Amino acid sequence: MLRLARLAASVPRLQAHPTNSRHSMAYSAKIGPSILSSDLSCLGSECVRMMESGADYLHLDVMDGHFVPNITFGHPMVECLRKTVGQDPFFDMHMMVSRPEQWVKPMAAAGASQYTFHLEATTNPGNLIKEIRESGMKVGLAIKPGTTVEELAPWANQVDMALVMTVEPGFGGQKFMDDMMPKVSWLRSQFPSLDIEVDGGVGPDTIHKCAEAGANMIVSGSAVIGSDDPRSVIALLRTAVAEAIQKRSLDR
Ligand code: DX5
Ligand code: ZN
Repeated sequence: MLRLARLAASVPRLQAHPTNSRHSMAYSAKIGPSILSSDLSCLGSECVRMMESGADYLHLDVMDGHFVPNITFGHPMVECLRKTVGQDPFFDMHMMVSRPEQWVKPMAAAGASQYTFHLEATTNPGNLIKEIRESGMKVGLAIKPGTTVEELAPWANQVDMALVMTVEPGFGGQKFMDDMMPKVSWLRSQFPSLDIEVDGGVGPDTIHKCAEAGANMIVSGSAVIGSDDPRSVIALLRTAVAEAIQKRSLDR
């Protein structure tokens, strides 16, 4: 996957234009457990356990104690995790950090597959997107609950994925914010093939709202990690999203 991402990054990029979008392939349902709420002293084996339970990718939450009021880990941990899980698993790095520019190269070198930065954390998203691509990673763009989708829209055709936060970033186990769903619906209507991720409070009770709104990349922390049967939870989440995608394609 990493090699594919690098290869993709070497292909010339199309510029933003709705009818000339880089999202030419249809999107699919993907479930990415967030390992934030797992036993952090066993992160390697927890990642392996999630992949063995059917995860499509791993969502790794990086917090710097500045952009959000919490600290997790940085690129040295990612390098160790990459060694533990091998080359295949896709690492979506959720960078809840100020000055995201400074970690692009170290994260790429550590084996990150996608660099998902917050729009609120940078004054020059265009340059950051370029730097991430040049480092061989895919690009994710995240917005906090207080940021509008209109602010994200100008960049949507230049990124691989848009992340609509459904909690205030910083902690796992918070309550899902229903009122973020209009953002997802709007993005889906404007960018029919964009990968749209939701993150925060997503589990079996809230997945249907996300799926119907049009999200296709689903981050789930406590609902998956805290379950006795993560495989079933992951399968349930994926089925809900896949069914909504199919319904949308039939309605078209
Ligand atoms: C919150 C993180 C999330 C969090 C999700 O700031 O970005 O990825 O771990 O965990 P749950 O699903 O428990 O809300
Ligand atoms: Zn996250």
